[in-house]
Amino acid sequence: MLYGAPSVFIVIIAGILFFLSFEIFGFINSIDNKNIMDFERDVKKSYRKYRKQEKISDDKTFIGVTPNKKDVYVPNDAKHIFVCGTTGSGKTVALSNFIESGIDYDYPMLIIDGKGDIGTNSILDIVTTMKEDRKVYIINLNNPNISDKYNPFKNTSPTKIKDMLMSMTEWSEDFYRLNVDRYLQRLIFLLDMSGETISFKSIVENMSAEKFLLLSAKLEKDGIITKQENVFNIDLIKNSEKIVEGSYARFSTLFESELGSIFDGRGVDILTAIKENAIILFILNPLTYPEISPLIGNLIILDSKKAVSGLFDDKIKRAFFIFDEINVYASKELLNLVNKSRSANVTSILATQSLSDLDEAAGVHFKEQIIENCNNYLILRQNSDINAEKFAAIIGTRNSMDITYQIKSEKGMTSDTGLGSMRNTREFLYHPDEIKNLKTGEAIFISKDNGYHSRVNINKPI
Ligand SMILES: Nc1ncnc2c1ncn2[C@@H]1O[C@H](COP(=O)(O)OP(=O)(O)OP(=O)(O)O)[C@@H](O)[C@H]1O
Ligand SMILES: [Mg+2]
Repeated sequence: MLYGAPSVFIVIIAGILFFLSFEIFGFINSIDNKNIMDFERDVKKSYRKYRKQEKISDDKTFIGVTPNKKDVYVPNDAKHIFVCGTTGSGKTVALSNFIESGIDYDYPMLIIDGKGDIGTNSILDIVTTMKEDRKVYIINLNNPNISDKYNPFKNTSPTKIKDMLMSMTEWSEDFYRLNVDRYLQRLIFLLDMSGETISFKSIVENMSAEKFLLLSAKLEKDGIITKQENVFNIDLIKNSEKIVEGSYARFSTLFESELGSIFDGRGVDILTAIKENAIILFILNPLTYPEISPLIGNLIILDSKKAVSGLFDDKIKRAFFIFDEINVYASKELLNLVNKSRSANVTSILATQSLSDLDEAAGVHFKEQIIENCNNYLILRQNSDINAEKFAAIIGTRNSMDITYQIKSEKGMTSDTGLGSMRNTREFLYHPDEIKNLKTGEAIFISKDNGYHSRVNINKPI
């Protein structure tokens, strides 16, 4: 009886705990990963507001912290930033810091996602989560039905449009290039004279010899061109008909695919988006359209060049051009764009998996030029020895002392002889092995703009 009361008490407590364990188990089960992620995002969102106020006074982008927990920033007018890391190493997360900063500072932004992800943590997800009240155009090759319309030829002279079309492809023979050039030039001039909005659609629709002849005849009938001009056009069309067939086929493949509906005369171009202080995001789709995606990528780069020329005349405070997976659309034109963009107050941030990818996509020269043109490198994990060594060399070396001691061994005893040598050597600031062993989200940041370098744990804003 004496110890009867405590045992009843223990039994009751055990019963309550037993009952609660079901409740707790059920609660834990109800929190799936998505809820945890949403919660984490909400917390980060409130923290963002505080950080935004802290950094807004000084134009710079927070990218993460050093191992000693010191904040690392990149000035927003940095002479371009190159982000490189193997798949899954954290490139897109690294870029999201610049997207966040562009939103905080209210910069217009051009963003190209060469890979075309649309799931959680994709650039699309990052932009739509962070955008606040910013105007956003999304040109989405993954889902043409919900994509915004795009017209890279908006506000562009007929000659420039022709040049853009010509630069979409590489020409192995001058003979073909010259003929297609003349044919397109004439066609676009006639379209312009007919009062039609020049778009990819109107060009492709009128590019066949048959349609081109009809257009010229109609313009003569309406008194817009002379009879002589019509005869000249007929000659040009008949002589070049066979030669332009290949280009016509290439353009129509693009236009007749589901992607054709994106290219619409009423669509936006990059300059218009930037002038509206908007964010324009292109999501390519190289998996479904391996041949068309680089063509469209090229067209976007040409449109960006046009935008940069427009920004020379009408300067803006700053814009960010963010290029993810550049290997999908790497070209001389991209290089040219990066070269020219700086004087138009554009900071370019380019990301790719490895330097070897750039070799493959656009040649060794392209890779070297990208390295030359960027003064800031965010190097994430590299898998290959060659890439790790190349980056270690880019970051540089420091002086170190190589000291040797001579030792002797007598009767099983080892001792110092007092002799030795000392010489100056150079060692890597960051050894290739260190670059190969970086974990996800860890990087080495080096700025040749101001000589700064450090290991950084990259911030994940959402
Ligand atoms: N700094 C970081 N902090 C926390 N998690 C990170 C960080 N960087 C990356 N991750 C996580 O690692 C995964 C891969 O990141 P991310 O998509 O940025 O890699 P990536 O290099 O762009 O890969 P891919 O080449 O496949 O596009 C994601 O799940 C992401 O959430
Ligand atoms: Mg990525």
